[in-house]
Amino acid sequence: MTKVVTTVAELRAAKALLKPARIGMVPTMGALHDGHVSLVTEARKHADHVVVSIFVNPTQFAPGEDFDAYPRTLEADLKKLGDAAAIVFAPTAREMYPEGFATTVTVGGPSAGLETNFRPHFFAGVATAVAKLLIAALPDIAVFGEKDYQQLLVVKRLVRDLDLPIRVIGAPTLREADGLALSSRNAYLSADERKIATLLNIILTDTIATARSSDLRAAEATAIEALWKAGFSHVDYVAIRDAESMDHITALERPARILAAAKVGKTRLIDNMAI
Ligand code: PAF
Repeated sequence: MTKVVTTVAELRAAKALLKPARIGMVPTMGALHDGHVSLVTEARKHADHVVVSIFVNPTQFAPGEDFDAYPRTLEADLKKLGDAAAIVFAPTAREMYPEGFATTVTVGGPSAGLETNFRPHFFAGVATAVAKLLIAALPDIAVFGEKDYQQLLVVKRLVRDLDLPIRVIGAPTLREADGLALSSRNAYLSADERKIATLLNIILTDTIATARSSDLRAAEATAIEALWKAGFSHVDYVAIRDAESMDHITALERPARILAAAKVGKTRLIDNMAI
C-alpha cells in the first residue's frame, strides 16, 4: 500500500520504517502518464522501495506560463502508480517554500543556453525544488527522464557539486506509436495540433541523418525551417550539442545530442535524441 505524505517530517518518518533498504526517488509534477511509470519501473530496478514526489513547483514557471493551468490529478496519479511507489510525497507550496524562504540553488555548466535562453527562471526553480526534494528523501538513487535532457544534466551537476550521496540515473523517453514523446503537456493539444506535434520527432530524426553528412549549423537551420513549414507556431531552438556538457560543438566527434523546443499553437513541446 502506498503511503501518501505531505510534510518533510512525515516523509522522513515513513522512509525510516522502510529501512534497511535501498531507496529510489522519482521527482514529478504529477499528471502522471506511462512515461512517469517507466521512470518508476527504472527506479525499482535499482532500489527496494521508490518514493515518488508530486509537486507542481511554482518557482520553475514564469508569470504568464501554464502554472495555473498545469493539470493537478492526485487521485488519478495514485491509481496510475498502483503499488509501484512505497511513498508518495505530495507537499504543499507552503511546505516547500515556507514564509521567509530565501534560498535559490543555481547551477552553471549545462544550464547555459537552450532552455535558459527562453525560460531564464527555469533551472534555478528546478534546482531549488530538486535539491529540497532530494535532501528531504535522501534516496540512494534518483531517476529523471531523458525527455528533459538539459534538466537531467543540470540535476547530475547539482548532485555532483553538492556531494549529495545519490546516483542520478537518466531513463529513456517513452514515445507514442507515431514517435511523439510522452508529456503531460500533450493533453493541451487539439486534434489538428496533435498531427503537427508528431512532426517534431520526425524532423529531428531526419536532421540527425543530415548532420552526419553536413555542417551542423546548416543542419540546425534546415530543421528550424522544416518546423516552421510543418505548422509550428514558434520555434525556440534546434541545437546539436555535446551530450555530456551541452557545450557547442562543430563536429560529431564525441557523443552528441540534438535538442529542440517549439510551440504548436500555445503548447510548447521539447524533444531530444542521441546522435
Ligand atoms: O521534470 C519535472 O517534472 C520537474 O521539472 C521536476 C524535476 C519534478 C522538478 O520540479
